[in-house]
Amino acid sequence: MRLDKFLVACAVGSRTEVKNMLKAGRVTVNGKKEKSAKLQIDEKIDEIRFDGQVLEYEEFVYYMMNKPQGVISATEDPKHRTVLDLLDDLARSKEVFPVGRLDIDTHGLLLLTNDGKLAHALLSPKHHVDKTYLAQVKGIMAQEDVEIFAKGIPLKDFTCQPARLEILYTDAEKNQSQICVTIAEGKFHQVKRMVAYCGKEVVDLQRLAMGTLILDENLQRGEWRRLTEEELEALLASIA
Ligand code: URA
Repeated sequence: MRLDKFLVACAVGSRTEVKNMLKAGRVTVNGKKEKSAKLQIDEKIDEIRFDGQVLEYEEFVYYMMNKPQGVISATEDPKHRTVLDLLDDLARSKEVFPVGRLDIDTHGLLLLTNDGKLAHALLSPKHHVDKTYLAQVKGIMAQEDVEIFAKGIPLKDFTCQPARLEILYTDAEKNQSQICVTIAEGKFHQVKRMVAYCGKEVVDLQRLAMGTLILDENLQRGEWRRLTEEELEALLASIA
């Protein structure tokens, strides 16, 4: 990879900062001062130092984001901002991507990583990774809906696996409910379509959990952080 990309990926600085640091002669490659940002290096073989300190390259990174509404959970989009626009240079330089999709108007837990193997395992139907959502609903959800969810809802293009619906509260006067839904799949608009099948409408949808990973309530919408070691270990163990 290019030397400047490597330096950004090692958290030395942003692209511009790294360029200046190279110009200032603060970087050596295999003991030789190197000023060219374009130099191709092999991060597994070459020894890169910054101000004399050897840089260690971290191949895989894992971030938890509290995705806000209005951004797309994709790596690029011709019209809208994507979740990558919320990251910083270092995270972007790692070429992370979102694991699974949330609708543009859904907010909450989103995992971003460049670990394709983990992403694939989490999304594979074989692993049945549960996703839990909190939804505000227009209409009154009832016990019969709990049973409909538990049986497996037949939608037009597929039949949902049995899902758990918990009714947190209903307000007859305002004609609204709050529910918690757990599904093992992740089909397009799935929760909204399951609720619509019961004759009600999701007006706000938030993902709270994905497998062992739980949305950090200290993360404001649009904020993100690295997974802790415990979170990562639990996630990796869950798909092993
Ligand atoms: N179900 C939906 O309907 N939308 C999402 O974004 C996620 C699950």
